[in-house]
Amino acid sequence: MRRILLLAHRVPVSGAFTLNDLAGGAGRMDEVARVVSTAFTLSNDLRRDTELTILFEAEPPPAARRIRLSGANLRHLNPDERSTAALLKNALVRSIPLERDVEASPGLIVGPVDPVEALLEFAREPGAFWLTERGVPLRSLVGTGDGFSAILSDPTDPPPEELHRLESTGIPRVSLGPISLRSSQCVDVLHHEFDLRAASRAAARPRDPAAELVG
Ligand SMILES: C[S@@+](CC[C@H](N)C(=O)[O-])C[C@H]1O[C@@H](n2cnc3c(N)ncnc32)[C@H](O)[C@@H]1O
Repeated sequence: MRRILLLAHRVPVSGAFTLNDLAGGAGRMDEVARVVSTAFTLSNDLRRDTELTILFEAEPPPAARRIRLSGANLRHLNPDERSTAALLKNALVRSIPLERDVEASPGLIVGPVDPVEALLEFAREPGAFWLTERGVPLRSLVGTGDGFSAILSDPTDPPPEELHRLESTGIPRVSLGPISLRSSQCVDVLHHEFDLRAASRAAARPRDPAAELVG
């Protein structure tokens, strides 16, 4: 399984923003929507083996919200950023009066969250790592199989207390290179690296002659 946690620091948690100003008043919802798109969409399919959690932290608990998207069940995800932002906004709006999780659309669960708890919970995933420009190279990370559990930030870097929290988990910092990328580009690079690893593992597997007998 490929698991991604995105820390969204500025998107208004109430969903009170216009789709006409995603990069401004919507607190960089444009980039959050692009992360959703790069996490799941392929040329003519969706990545069913991917789960994305977004922590909307612009306001502290009880206002903070978590959206969890599961590729196995996801529907209504179009490749364009505006309709993806609308999907997320509708989920946030629907969640305002609720004190529990709800499936706002197929494969998309939204609910109130303690972002500190949620971050620590994700960091306990086996092999979890934190993406930052200053870390060990991704290529040096071995033994993770075809999956990963990666934490990354939206265009606003984690504030000091969150950085401290991440450090306290002891999970490795992993770098995708010396150049600071957009969050959505990081997701593309991650998928690409693990796609290559999966392909080379499949190529190295001994062939099963029985499986090649087509009746
Ligand atoms: C747009 S960057 C954050 C802003 C950036 N630090 C800056 O100075 O403008 C968004 C996030 O993507 C991840 N990221 C960006 N470039 C990276 C890289 N080269 N290696 C690993 N993670 C990266 C980090 O999690 C980062 O917080």
